[in-house]
Amino acid sequence: MRISLDQASVLLKAGEVVAIPTETVYGLAADAHNDHALQKIFSIKQRPADHPLIVHINDISQVENWVTAFPTVAIKLATAFWPGALTLVLPAKSQVSRVVRGGEATVALRVPSHPVTLALLKLSGLSLAAPSANLFTQLSPTTADHVEAGLGDAIPVVDGGPCQVGIESTIVSVNAAGEWQLLRPGMISEGDIINVAGTSQQLNLVGVSHEATPKAPGQHALHYSPRTPLLLFKNRASLILESQRLKQANLCCAALLIGPGDLPDCQLLQLADNPQQVAEQLYSALHHLDALKLDRILVELPPHTNAWAAVLDRLSRAGYQGPI
Ligand code: TXA
Ligand code: MG
Repeated sequence: MRISLDQASVLLKAGEVVAIPTETVYGLAADAHNDHALQKIFSIKQRPADHPLIVHINDISQVENWVTAFPTVAIKLATAFWPGALTLVLPAKSQVSRVVRGGEATVALRVPSHPVTLALLKLSGLSLAAPSANLFTQLSPTTADHVEAGLGDAIPVVDGGPCQVGIESTIVSVNAAGEWQLLRPGMISEGDIINVAGTSQQLNLVGVSHEATPKAPGQHALHYSPRTPLLLFKNRASLILESQRLKQANLCCAALLIGPGDLPDCQLLQLADNPQQVAEQLYSALHHLDALKLDRILVELPPHTNAWAAVLDRLSRAGYQGPI
C-alpha cells in the first residue's frame, strides 16, 4: 500500500511500521525509541531478536545522543561518507533500547543520503530503526514493488523509486580505543575506509572474547537468497556446461552474466561489466529471475578483486558454488 511522506510520518509517530526507501535498499522503519514499535519489525520480518537494527539519523550531530564514545577515526569516517552508505557500530549509551541493539553493548548508526529518507527523518523528528524490508534471509528489496511482493500489499510503503546503490551499506565497527573493523563489505570499499581512517582494520578484535564479538551480518549460511536454487560459477565455460546439462535433464534455468554473451539453453539477463552498475541492478535482477519460478538460476561470478568485494559477498551468501 503506497503512502505519502505525511502519512508515513503520522504512522511512525503513532508507533507503526512503514517501509521506506534509502539509497542502498528499502528499509522497514519504526521509531528507534519505541520498543513496542521495534518489536513489530522483528515479528513482520520473522527476524531473531538478537539481530540488532541500524538506527537512521538526520546528521552527525545526533551521534552523541546514542554513544559513549565517538573516536576520531569514527568522526573522520562519518564526515567523509555521511550522508551515505556507511553504517558505524559504536559503544552504546545504556539508555539505548536493548531491542534496537539486539542485546549488544553497541549501536549501529547511519545518516542516509536518499532525499526522501532525509525528508522523513526531518518531518517526523524521529530516529528510525530500519533493517532491510524483506523477510529474514531473503533478498533485500530495491523497489517499492519488491517490498510488497515480499511482505504483502498491506505493508505501508513510501515509494522513493529504485535504490541507486542497490546493496546494503558498508558496516564498520569502531571501539572506544578507535580500533576499527569491517563487519559487512559494501560499495564504500575497505580501501576507501583505510584511506580515510589512515590505518588498517584490527582483524583480531573479533574473537578476542566471544562475548565481545559483535554480530556479523549474514552469519546464516544462506542470507540474501532467492527461493530458486542459485548456482555460482567462477567462469563462463563451466556455467555453459551446467546449462547444457540442465537442459538434457529437462530442467529450466535462467542465467545472470556479467558483461555480454550468449547462452542458447537459458533465459538470459546481462549486467554491465562494472561493480557500481552490477550492485545497483543485482537484487532487481535476482528478484526478476526468481519470479520466473524456474528450476535453477546460474550466476557468473565477477573477478576476485577489491572493487567487486561487496557484490561477491552478496552473491556468495545468495547461492552455492556450482559444479566446476
Ligand atoms: O543499507 C543498509 O544498511 C540497510 C538500509 C535500510 O539502511 N539496512 C540493512 O539492515 O541492511 P539489516 O538489518 O538488514 O542489516 C544490518 C546488519 C544486521 O545484520 C546486523 O547484524 C548489523 O547490521 N548490526 C546492526 N547493529 C549492530 C551492532 N550493534 N553490532 C554489530 N552489527 C550490527
Ligand atoms: Mg537485511
